Amino acid sequence: MKPAQRTHQIEPFYVMEVAKRAAEIEHSLLASDPAMIHLTLGEPDFTAPERVQQAAIAAIRQGKTQYTAALGLEQLRERISDWYTTRFKLKVPKERIVITAGASAALQLICSALIEEGDEVMMPDPCYPCNRHFVTSVGGIASLIPTTAAERFQLSQQKVAAHWQDNTKGVLIASPSNPTGTSIVPQELAAIHQFVKSKKGFTIVDELYLGLSYNAEFGQSALALDDDIISINSFSKYFSMTGWRLGWMVVPERLVRTIEKLAQNFFICPSAISQYAGIACFEQESLEEYEQRRAEYRRRRDWVIPALNELGLNVPVMPDGAFYAWVDCQAWSEALKLPSSWEFAFEIMQRCHVAITPGRDFGNADTDRFVRFSTSNSLDNLQIAVERLAKLKLQLFR
Ligand SMILES: Cc1ncc(COP(=O)(O)O)c(C=O)c1O
Repeated sequence: MKPAQRTHQIEPFYVMEVAKRAAEIEHSLLASDPAMIHLTLGEPDFTAPERVQQAAIAAIRQGKTQYTAALGLEQLRERISDWYTTRFKLKVPKERIVITAGASAALQLICSALIEEGDEVMMPDPCYPCNRHFVTSVGGIASLIPTTAAERFQLSQQKVAAHWQDNTKGVLIASPSNPTGTSIVPQELAAIHQFVKSKKGFTIVDELYLGLSYNAEFGQSALALDDDIISINSFSKYFSMTGWRLGWMVVPERLVRTIEKLAQNFFICPSAISQYAGIACFEQESLEEYEQRRAEYRRRRDWVIPALNELGLNVPVMPDGAFYAWVDCQAWSEALKLPSSWEFAFEIMQRCHVAITPGRDFGNADTDRFVRFSTSNSLDNLQIAVERLAKLKLQLFR
């Protein structure tokens, strides 16, 4: 038995190596040692609100645990449609909303639906590591286009046009992005989409962090631009439900039947229990709680980004969403005589007991000089992490 050829292109998730090492160090710590502060995983430090938990419990108790329709519960699709109306002033009919097992299943479905063997899909470098693997796992080719801070680490129309090949079929953009927390300028996205459309290609925008947007300029959904844009979304981040495996996507009407067939075959349906809980996310009290959480994420960002800049751990673009800081650690790596951000991350973990993710996971463009801090941790912990780094800085840059 040997694994299929295409699996060789799928790289490991390097952050797991970091998490493993962090756990090893943690096990060897004495009670008097400072505890490890985990700033690696892109996961909310909040759980689902009480009301949402109760909705899941009620679904179990009432036996609402059978398969649902492959496209998801009508009621949940309706609630999401209403949310687009109230939050984004957009008309998104429920018929175009497909409920999935997280954004991951949505990405897998849409890649299976649109990509032929040998088709190329463009994405910015750096980007969410799994994106390239969703594309390659269906026989496509991920084309990572290096981006710069001046471009907010996003694609531009100019770059998309310059790199477009005969076999290019579309673009996949996350806005706000993981690992940078930066969004694409709406006019740039509109120009990219227009170009892609002129080539009869597809535009997929992963909007899983859109709920956690801190700047009105970037707070609108890409769906406002055109019904042909495919929008990916999730309950994982804004709705604090990573392990519940629930998400959705909005697709053009003519794609719904294809997606439905694939979803029936791949997954039968998303978790019924999570879907019933998902309905409770849109109750007024839940939405208010989520908005308080968004304010808290923003408060953390507002404190930690200037603090990192102050330390010479430069964040070249202020994140406008999500809970990440994409940090240039080159000066520190040099001071520590380390070849790259990979070694830097392990050194910081060892010396400061602060776990962060090396840039390597997210692509090739300058990723050896960047690390990602996940700021989804309490402000107290973020402040302790910065204090420890400040102490190390005093030793390094005397
Ligand atoms: C940009 C991006 N897309 C998709 C995902 C997958 O999310 P989900 O938990 O909804 O499958 C993540 C998870 O971190 C992400 O950062």
